[in-house]
Amino acid sequence: MNFELTEEQIAVRDAARDFAQNVLKPGVIERDETMTFPKDEIRQLGELGFMGMMVSPEYGGGGMDTVSYVLAMEELSKVDASSSVVVSVNNSLVCWGLETFGSEEQKQKFLVPLAKGEKIGAFCLSEPEAGSDATSQKTTAVDMGDYYLLNGTKNWITNGNSASTYLVMAQTDADKGHRGINCLIVEKGMDGFIVGAKENKMGIRASDTHTLLFNDVKVPKANRVGDDGFGFKFAMKTLEGGRIGIAAQALGIASGSLELSTAYSKERKAFGKTIDKHQAIQFKLADMATEIEAARLLCLKAAWLKDHKKPYGHLSAMAKLYASKVAMEASTEAVQVHGGYGYVKEYHVERLMRDAKITQIYEGTSEVQKIVISRHVLTN
Ligand code: CAA
Repeated sequence: MNFELTEEQIAVRDAARDFAQNVLKPGVIERDETMTFPKDEIRQLGELGFMGMMVSPEYGGGGMDTVSYVLAMEELSKVDASSSVVVSVNNSLVCWGLETFGSEEQKQKFLVPLAKGEKIGAFCLSEPEAGSDATSQKTTAVDMGDYYLLNGTKNWITNGNSASTYLVMAQTDADKGHRGINCLIVEKGMDGFIVGAKENKMGIRASDTHTLLFNDVKVPKANRVGDDGFGFKFAMKTLEGGRIGIAAQALGIASGSLELSTAYSKERKAFGKTIDKHQAIQFKLADMATEIEAARLLCLKAAWLKDHKKPYGHLSAMAKLYASKVAMEASTEAVQVHGGYGYVKEYHVERLMRDAKITQIYEGTSEVQKIVISRHVLTN
């Protein structure tokens, strides 16, 4: 077993770290407070190749492996989870899905600009009454011959307004249940497609999360991804990889919490010495470091399995379940280590604590991950 990173993986990690510390960090508090989408920062991440990092160079991507993606996601998320979720959704849920299951025409038309970071993608599965219960799609895509007539509402869509390309799951044949669901590529500007209200969120406040409305949108048949009825499996396969990205985001929130706590503990004095000399603080740091390392190993193992074309859905669920729990715990402890300073915005840890919570909810709640894991345990 080899735990060494390659030179290329180290270079990707270091580039992401530099970008996070030098470009993302200066405005992160203000963007969070004002719910301002990191438009310029995402453009720069695109220019550096982070928006389609795993896409093959043939389609404008960076041709990197999933391990590199985990490393980059950790570094970006230490500083700015609002930006890193944009990177994650674009890479895992949109680019990967299109590259793996899209037609050549779809790849040329939609994947290339997404992989180059010229456009942003969104993944539209959740509905007002279909969150964890994702087979219960109410959005309909009626087969009209050479197009689908799309009607319905999608909720909590990351990149809801900033995206140009949307992968929308919709029910074509209700009698077939989940086997009657299709994935359609919808473009911003199509008649009848309306970007609805923006959510005012607890965390990842700079990412734009919207309701989307589809009123008689005519989507060409050529925009269906995969065969008729493949939409639900498309979503499930895509989410398997997406969960690695969110696990790595949670890992970054946790390791960012530890880094800030360690640095602060060496400066802050109490009872005549810096607080890193107090065992109460040392034990907190030790617990955080141990749990973070375990979360990191799960993330990297899931990524390694994906890179080696082995089944990885159960590992990505484990990585997300565990890393998101560690993110909550580590960020909460980081606020505690910082005391009163931790409760105010300048010290960053209160934002990490708010951002951590979403990692236990999106791309499948912790309970959904336990369904996936327990099914694997019981059938293998
Ligand atoms: N790969 C391929 N196929 C899969 C699959 C997978 N990983 N998981 C399930 N399927 C298939 C099953 O084989 C089955 O097909 P067949 O009947 O043909 O065999 C079909 O899908 C239905 O599967 P289940 O019977 O297991 O479905 P279920 O209703 O019991 O639900 C679930 C399973 C795991 C709970 C699933 O519904 C799920 O993952 N829900 C959560 C959805 C989710 O993650 N939503 C997040 C929204 S996206 C988001 O958050 C993005 C963002 O903006 C950040």
